[in-house]
Amino acid sequence: MIKSIKLINWKSYGESTLYIDPLTIVIGTNSSGKSNALDALLFLKRIAGGAGIFQSINGDVSMKALRGGIDWVCRKYNTSFYIEVLMEFEGNDYEYSIKVEVEKAKALIVDEKLIQLSRNNRLFYTTLRDQKLLNIPTYFSTGKQGKGQNFDLSRSISILYQAKSLSLKKKDTIEIVSAILSQLSGIFVLDPIPSHMRDYAPLAEELLSDGSNIAGVLAALDDTRKSDIEETITQYLKKIPEKDVEYIWTEKIGKFNTDAMLYCKEGWKNENEHIIDARGMSDGTLRFLAIVTAMLTNEPFSLLVIEEVDNGLHPSRANVLLNMLKELGEKRKIDVIITTHNPALLDAAGVSMIPFITVAHRDEEGQSILTLLEDIEDLPKLISSGNIGELTSSGKIESALLREGLK
Ligand SMILES: Nc1ncnc2c1ncn2[C@@H]1O[C@H](COP(=O)(O)OP(=O)(O)OP(=O)(O)O)[C@@H](O)[C@H]1O
Ligand SMILES: [Mg+2]
Repeated sequence: MIKSIKLINWKSYGESTLYIDPLTIVIGTNSSGKSNALDALLFLKRIAGGAGIFQSINGDVSMKALRGGIDWVCRKYNTSFYIEVLMEFEGNDYEYSIKVEVEKAKALIVDEKLIQLSRNNRLFYTTLRDQKLLNIPTYFSTGKQGKGQNFDLSRSISILYQAKSLSLKKKDTIEIVSAILSQLSGIFVLDPIPSHMRDYAPLAEELLSDGSNIAGVLAALDDTRKSDIEETITQYLKKIPEKDVEYIWTEKIGKFNTDAMLYCKEGWKNENEHIIDARGMSDGTLRFLAIVTAMLTNEPFSLLVIEEVDNGLHPSRANVLLNMLKELGEKRKIDVIITTHNPALLDAAGVSMIPFITVAHRDEEGQSILTLLEDIEDLPKLISSGNIGELTSSGKIESALLREGLK
């Protein structure tokens, strides 16, 4: 699992770390740097999936550019950025890091390494000798001093990804590299867009990031798993709309059964067959549905990122959403990072979630800084004067951060 991610000169960040728990809530005013931090996770997903470093930032025909593209990926007045991720695999901690130099239409690796922390053992590391060269010498340890393997690898694609097709002598390294790659490429950034979810969707194995193919993903499951998952979705969705939902399900459609549609039976009085399809469902209902579907169909031990998680959801439903994320996250071993502006969601989280709330803010020089809410010295005093939701809407947390100058 991914435990933390450190950003240096990445977008609005000077140097800051995001700690990742089973459920991490990131809050902060507009432009504080929440999305900038989460963009780093998308970047890691892309490079671990084999996309070029430049394409991962600036996009290509099949991939949207990160917000701001190549021009805004390094902190203003800088030409390089550094990302370091701490990950756990089979009881050991690993630190993977990458430093990238950016120049107009180029983004090249200047340093990349993977360290097994418990043994302080560098599984691989690079040594750039000449900035002008497009390749970088990389050393893979074999566990025997002076007997490592040297490769000259491309600076345009992550070394981690290239490592998987090298003939490495050390079996452990092959296994660790593939585990780290699957953790990073398993990061899923969900941005459900209701208007994309109303159409018929082709059958599919993987959910798309806009949630547009939920019907296709559910309908493609084998019958037992399909009915289990649709039953669970119904349980969580019941309390979202004005009137209790009786059942949510999908059906294959079309002459060749290659598409699917989502249906919902609502429980209005004196109407024994009030069935609607996705075209008639409300925006908030569809967004919620996409989130539950992702929680139920993503791979175990993956990381799900959802921005503005409660967008379009009535404040009285915040606790349903939060409980669902906690319960399914624990059950399916999926870590979740969410951002929110909603005081109702923070109130629903309550004081027991304080250790898992991170606040993004900008210091006086404009650098984004991530601070654990519980590290604010004044927090006990602030909490005694109001609940967390009210503290955020009154701006008292931001004032305390600036006062305490937390870095
Ligand atoms: N390369 C960069 N160097 C310095 N600052 C940057 C850079 N790229 C973006 N920013 C700053 O980051 C801000 C946007 O941050 P971000 O999108 O993360 O905000 P947010 O916390 O997600 O806000 P919202 O709640 O509105 O979505 C911009 O106002 C800009 O000043
Ligand atoms: Mg944002």
